Amino acid sequence: MSSSSLVLTLLLVLIIEINAEISDELSWTTSMGNVRNTRRLIPSIPTGYNGTTWTLFFNSSTQDKTVFGSAAGTNGDLYLFITDSPYSSGDYMLCLTPNGEIRWKMHLESASFKINVGVSNIVSDQKNNLLYYTSSWADSGTFVSKICRVFYPDTHHPAQECLDTYRISSNYLAPLALNTKADLLITTVIENSPAAFNTTTFEMIWTDAEAMGSDASADYKTDPLTGDIYWISGSDDMYKMNTNGTRAFINDTNSGGNRHFALNSQEQIVVRAWQNLSDHDWPLVVSGWNVENTGLHERWQWKNTNSSNVNTDCTPPVMDNQNNAVYFVNLPQTIALDATTGLSRWQIRLVTMTEMNEFDLVTECTTFNEHTRVLYVLVQSTKTSFKLFLMAVHVDTGKILHRTNITTVDSKISIPFCPILIGDELIYISWLTGDYPDQVPLTITTIPQLS
Ligand SMILES: *[C@@H]1O[C@H](CO)[C@@H](O)[C@H](O)[C@H]1NC(C)=O
Ligand SMILES: *[C@@H]1O[C@H](CO)[C@@H](O)[C@H](O)[C@H]1NC(C)=O
Ligand SMILES: *[C@@H]1O[C@H](CO)[C@@H](O)[C@H](O)[C@H]1NC(C)=O
Ligand SMILES: *[C@@H]1O[C@H](CO)[C@@H](O)[C@H](O)[C@H]1NC(C)=O
Ligand SMILES: *[C@@H]1O[C@H](CO)[C@@H](O)[C@H](O)[C@H]1NC(C)=O
Ligand SMILES: *[C@@H]1O[C@H](CO)[C@@H](O)[C@H](O)[C@H]1NC(C)=O
Ligand SMILES: *[C@@H]1O[C@H](CO)[C@@H](O)[C@H](O)[C@H]1NC(C)=O
Ligand SMILES: *[C@@H]1O[C@H](CO)[C@@H](O)[C@H](O)[C@H]1NC(C)=O
Repeated sequence: MSSSSLVLTLLLVLIIEINAEISDELSWTTSMGNVRNTRRLIPSIPTGYNGTTWTLFFNSSTQDKTVFGSAAGTNGDLYLFITDSPYSSGDYMLCLTPNGEIRWKMHLESASFKINVGVSNIVSDQKNNLLYYTSSWADSGTFVSKICRVFYPDTHHPAQECLDTYRISSNYLAPLALNTKADLLITTVIENSPAAFNTTTFEMIWTDAEAMGSDASADYKTDPLTGDIYWISGSDDMYKMNTNGTRAFINDTNSGGNRHFALNSQEQIVVRAWQNLSDHDWPLVVSGWNVENTGLHERWQWKNTNSSNVNTDCTPPVMDNQNNAVYFVNLPQTIALDATTGLSRWQIRLVTMTEMNEFDLVTECTTFNEHTRVLYVLVQSTKTSFKLFLMAVHVDTGKILHRTNITTVDSKISIPFCPILIGDELIYISWLTGDYPDQVPLTITTIPQLS
């Protein structure tokens, strides 16, 4: 082989490697708590999904006291916590196959004479086929937390290994995330600061005592290219730090609204929907920021000029790297913008104004299959008759492809969780219903994706 073809081959290998890394399909495991799973997960071994639609009902009572974060494995299995007792937040981890069978049910490692007062979300490490979670245990005067890994989750015989720690408190809504670039687990420690733990030893490597950590409304993402960490904390500040915890900047994001954002790591652009509270109408704004190390610099701003729309609720944007676009839902519309300029690509009406008003429709989640080009939008009614339906939109044409009614139940509590897409095959959807605080059962259903 000549030296130039060697260089070419090396370059090609490098390009393929980079492409594999930035495919972004793993971003929901590397984001905080994966509470808003915007991406599909590509299983690395066959799922064996036979195309059935199934529904399972778990009559557990305290699911809503946990950071509900199910995760999916290398074979498309779903992992979640369940409990049998109204006093504890998680007794078992459960593994369901894509066909709705229980592959295993494993008691969480417990602390003697203490009850479980919190569990984190489950983090699935696809590369090493491991799961991570944290749990907290208390009696009347003392508490201890555990940071745990689960081995062999794809077999019928999983095993777990935990380390006791007094740093973490899982009942503090401290989601857990993985930084695959640097092999770090990122979470919030008791002083409410972000911290990084070694995935092998569970030793705390750094914490930033001045930074605000996570709460349920904060958002965290790892840049898959650099490993850099982006964090919008409970104080509305955006932090950028490298894998050593060294800060590149802290900038005030200056806004109301939710804190979820999308990251385009190639272009180093962050996109987020917010509300300008200095403007007396508190209008909805979607902004793109450059996030180089000198700080957060606004690049473009989009405002809904469509006077038929005064709704300021908006889903976190989802980034389409293939088409350099961002998609979000601001009911009744779904909107596509160019990620570099903020110019509109298309807008479509998802539901009628009559239906919106009659059922008080809201949406918090979109989930995107970049490969089939389908954006799924989970819409719910906030009326006591809880309705949940899934709309599918083709992102290249802006056409509505399908609407699937998922459920209608009479229930005081109704909390849907964001769907998880497995390959091009199936979608897991789950929700809590019930009557707080006694019975808050969990329902999980699976339907095939559009092909
Ligand atoms: C759920 O559990 C409660 C209390 O054990 C029981 O009263 C109720 O009937 C159960 N519901 C279902 C659907 O199994
Ligand atoms: C799919 O698998 C489930 C679980 O094994 C089974 O109950 C169901 O009948 C199967 N459906 C089809 C269409 O094969
Ligand atoms: C984690 O610990 C292992 C074992 O001591 C070590 O080899 C590895 O370099 C550590 N990783 C980090 C990111 O500190
Ligand atoms: C983190 O610190 C290590 C050891 O000090 C250093 O080798 C490495 O380059 C640093 N990484 C970054 C991203 O700054
Ligand atoms: C953003 O952060 C950079 C770096 O920390 C700082 O120099 C800059 O003044 C900040 N900008 C604002 C608007 O706070
Ligand atoms: C928010 O609105 C106020 C009043 O209209 C305006 O002066 C300000 O520039 C806006 N802020 C941003 C960041 O666009
Ligand atoms: C305003 O929204 C409606 C549907 O919500 C849509 O039909 C119309 O084209 C939009 N107008 C503009 C100027 O985008
Ligand atoms: C879905 O539900 C709506 C009312 O909520 C109804 O109008 C529609 O016909 C249903 N669609 C299907 C396919 O059942």
